[in-house]
Amino acid sequence: VIGGAGHVGLPLSLMLAEAGLDVVVIDRDAQKLRQIEQGSFPYMEEMSDSYLSRSKEWSIAYTTQYEPIQACDVIFFTVGTPVDEHLNPDLEPVYESLELVKPFLKTGQCVVLRSTLFPGTSENVVGLLEKSGLDVSVCFCPERIAQGQGFVELKQIPQIVAASDTRGLEVARDIFSRLALNVIELSFVEAELAKLFCNTWRYVQFAIANEFYEISTSKGLDFERIRSAMMLDYERMASFPRPGFAAGPCLFKDTMQLASYSRDFFRLGHQAMLTNETMPDFMVNMAKREMDLRDKTVGMLGMAFKPNNDDIRESLAYRLKRLLFYEGAKVLCTDPYVRDPTFVPLEVVLRDSEAIFIGCPHDVYGEIVFGKEQRVFDCWGPSWR
Ligand SMILES: NC(=O)c1ccc[n+]([C@@H]2O[C@H](COP(=O)([O-])OP(=O)(O)OC[C@H]3O[C@@H](n4cnc5c(N)ncnc54)[C@H](O)[C@@H]3O)[C@@H](O)[C@H]2O)c1
Repeated sequence: VIGGAGHVGLPLSLMLAEAGLDVVVIDRDAQKLRQIEQGSFPYMEEMSDSYLSRSKEWSIAYTTQYEPIQACDVIFFTVGTPVDEHLNPDLEPVYESLELVKPFLKTGQCVVLRSTLFPGTSENVVGLLEKSGLDVSVCFCPERIAQGQGFVELKQIPQIVAASDTRGLEVARDIFSRLALNVIELSFVEAELAKLFCNTWRYVQFAIANEFYEISTSKGLDFERIRSAMMLDYERMASFPRPGFAAGPCLFKDTMQLASYSRDFFRLGHQAMLTNETMPDFMVNMAKREMDLRDKTVGMLGMAFKPNNDDIRESLAYRLKRLLFYEGAKVLCTDPYVRDPTFVPLEVVLRDSEAIFIGCPHDVYGEIVFGKEQRVFDCWGPSWR
């Protein structure tokens, strides 16, 4: 598994090893590999301790070298696929890793692309491998787990599969049947779009919840009261999300990949991006209506991008911190899961801050009783407390 120490690669590697396959985790991050070998999972992930301790019984090896690929039947690619500073899909990590792996590929193997891909990439990979004279099957089998839920969801979510030939399809069916997953077959571009559509759908849903929250709050209304009433015993609203920072390494960038693919016809995606990315601005504006932030000490609880997780990638809490700094506030940040030498303990934040902003509603904050004079700005709604 190339990129096997990553958020997607590591749960997959361990579950394939649990299923009885011989797995080689190949990652360029030697430090992360060492940490895993020493028995410590590099991220917060449900059930990770159990998997890592049981993995001593399984056939799984960790390396930064590509040579072991020569002995593999199937090679998974799980490297990151970000967008660049202009929101263009950055395809370099996929093509770069493919070039590094190519010298070790041989006829008869199967390459499984598992990263989220810009539509057309799988077909390009097929072309690149054909040009090299390699008779290698290519599959695109997108990962659809939610961050932190890999071990749970990998055994639940049906697997979308696209393949360059019947051999590739058979390999994909065989591998995923070992994880007891139903396989759904699509063409390459259909599968690439299905993955982008899934994430974009969620991102747009979050944007709608955020817009409703902004409309209600601007009119002095309690959105949570309205939202609860909308949802109570009403099946059609069952999946209506709560407001909050829609952030993280996937939803935003996948929506932008889709916007880029659609050549700017995807205005809803761009609007969702504007709504979600400016939630911190909305919070700061709300706060400024009630208090002058200049020279005030304000606290931020939670800096991760989602609750009960340590991942800060694309976390909007950092945008909020920056905006508060622009307003002249002194900002104290805390997070029980994120290691950062500039953070201060929760008690200090609660003791010294005139106002508190909820950057990420970790469950551990649910019991906090805030000071009577302390103003709390929380866009996540009271349902988490
Ligand atoms: N994080 C999620 O919950 C999630 C869910 C579904 C899909 N995805 C998609 O999966 C892909 C991977 O995301 P992630 O969050 O696991 O990223 P990640 O950054 O956590 O993992 C990528 C790993 O690849 C390694 N790597 C990069 N280039 C390499 C190379 N040339 N050789 C060897 N190792 C290399 C990195 O060191 C890293 O460990 C992305 O396309 C993402 O959109 C992620």
